Amino acid sequence: MRPWTGTGPRPIAPDGSAVEHYALLRPEGEPERVHGAIPEGATILELGAGVGRVTHRLLELGHPVVAVDESAEMLAHIRGAQTVRSPIQSLALGRRFDLVLLMSFLIETPDDELRRAFLRTCRAHVADDGLVILQRQPPEWYDTVEPFERHVPGRGVVRLTELDRPGPGLLSATMEYVVGDRRWTHSFTSRRLDDDFFAAELREAGLVLDGFVEGDRGWVRATPAATASG
Ligand SMILES: C[S@@+](CC[C@H](N)C(=O)[O-])C[C@H]1O[C@@H](n2cnc3c(N)ncnc32)[C@H](O)[C@@H]1O
Repeated sequence: MRPWTGTGPRPIAPDGSAVEHYALLRPEGEPERVHGAIPEGATILELGAGVGRVTHRLLELGHPVVAVDESAEMLAHIRGAQTVRSPIQSLALGRRFDLVLLMSFLIETPDDELRRAFLRTCRAHVADDGLVILQRQPPEWYDTVEPFERHVPGRGVVRLTELDRPGPGLLSATMEYVVGDRRWTHSFTSRRLDDDFFAAELREAGLVLDGFVEGDRGWVRATPAATASG
């Protein structure tokens, strides 16, 4: 992945996300959607929490949150949650949560090993009667997305450019964000996760594709597979 470029101030997280850009953003209904999918007061492990854009509202909604990110600069913005600086793929807290949350399309990495390690982390940290929520693009997005420019209230200008489909199930593009006189670009490659493929990957990690949050196929629910007892 190419690093962020342009006039945006640093620091930059290892995945290319600009800390200051994320600090400007506000949640857009994600915390309420998560809250609606879990019991009151359910404990949450948030993987790739960034500056706490979603974390802070989840705390307000009454959920104890442990926020994990590999970027100390991102985590430094979080208040009120326990923070853990770690790569998701090697996280080993020795603790289980009612909900494990992996948002921001991190699961769509084109790196098969990394995706599988993310899923193993989810399985290792979810309670046996708990839930994992993973945010992906609905698979058909890979067929239909086109370059765009949007003026988003509170977010400035968002552009998607340099769109390419470099191989089966792969999509690469550059996101450009302009807020006031600041501008950041972020290039990425994503891997389409069709339902059958995703279900198989989840199964391999000991998880079962259990449906979608509010019927939105971008928000995948997974539960621990029943273990044989004996
Ligand atoms: C695009 S930002 C989104 C942050 C937050 N989920 C949100 O919605 O505002 C992605 C975050 O995931 C973190 N991240 C990406 N890959 C990671 C990994 N393998 N391990 C830990 N953190 C990671 C980045 O440092 C960054 O803070």
